[in-house]
Amino acid sequence: MTDLVVRRLLIDLQPPIPRTWCGGDAFATAFFNALSMSFPFGEQFFIDALRSVLVTLPPDAQTRWQPEVKGFIGQEATHRRIHSLFNAHLERQGLVDGWTPRAAKRATRLEGLDPRHALAVTAANEHFTAMFADWLLARPEVLDNAEPRLKTMWLWHAAEESEHKTTAFDLYRAAGGSEKARKRWFAVTTSMFLRDLLRQTAANLNKEKQLWKRSTWASAARLLLGRKGLFGANLKAWRRYFSSDFHPSEHESGLADAWLRDNRDTYVPVGAR
Ligand SMILES: [Fe+2]
Ligand SMILES: [Fe+2]
Repeated sequence: MTDLVVRRLLIDLQPPIPRTWCGGDAFATAFFNALSMSFPFGEQFFIDALRSVLVTLPPDAQTRWQPEVKGFIGQEATHRRIHSLFNAHLERQGLVDGWTPRAAKRATRLEGLDPRHALAVTAANEHFTAMFADWLLARPEVLDNAEPRLKTMWLWHAAEESEHKTTAFDLYRAAGGSEKARKRWFAVTTSMFLRDLLRQTAANLNKEKQLWKRSTWASAARLLLGRKGLFGANLKAWRRYFSSDFHPSEHESGLADAWLRDNRDTYVPVGAR
């Protein structure tokens, strides 16, 4: 069991944020903005998925799982609150979130099904966020020229995603979720997630009239491709999810702990709620 601490982030998200807050880089800003748009709905979906499966476990297993699930819920609830504040700025800037309505519509297809399906989708998404988080913590220079409040927000979120990356996966296994369904939902999630992410990033860039600029595509290639790019660096970790001996803890860099240790002045632990 993982001991998950809920932390209140000490940043003030009331003052406005610059339009290209990520060091003036239009692509990086649009890409991070797209990811942020997915969080309030997505993280509520994850919370609900864990809750729905937890109550199906035998009483003694529920008691064992309760603290970790509570910590997971507390962390995700805090993330969605902070990202909702951030997203409100994006909305005021005129950006339109098309991701949330699409995801909400898709989620209705899982209603009434065995709750382990939603948990498999959650575990799949959590592997994506963990890959992103570990990549960002290993390459914080991506945010070197970013607005300081937002750099803190993204690295704090990354650290906590890395910290709780085993929870949904382990609960799915504890609830007897099948391997076949776990892998199938990962394949489905991969295509949905990438399509939504690229579509929303393109929409954000289009709104800012940056989509067809050479500098935008050069930045996209730098950020995503190549050995150190987000997609390039994670290809192996992505493929590993399809192996029966995969476990999220196998990608442990220690970078999340290091960030949380070195940035204690940016948050207050409030304990699991
Ligand atoms: Fe999160
Ligand atoms: Fe998460």
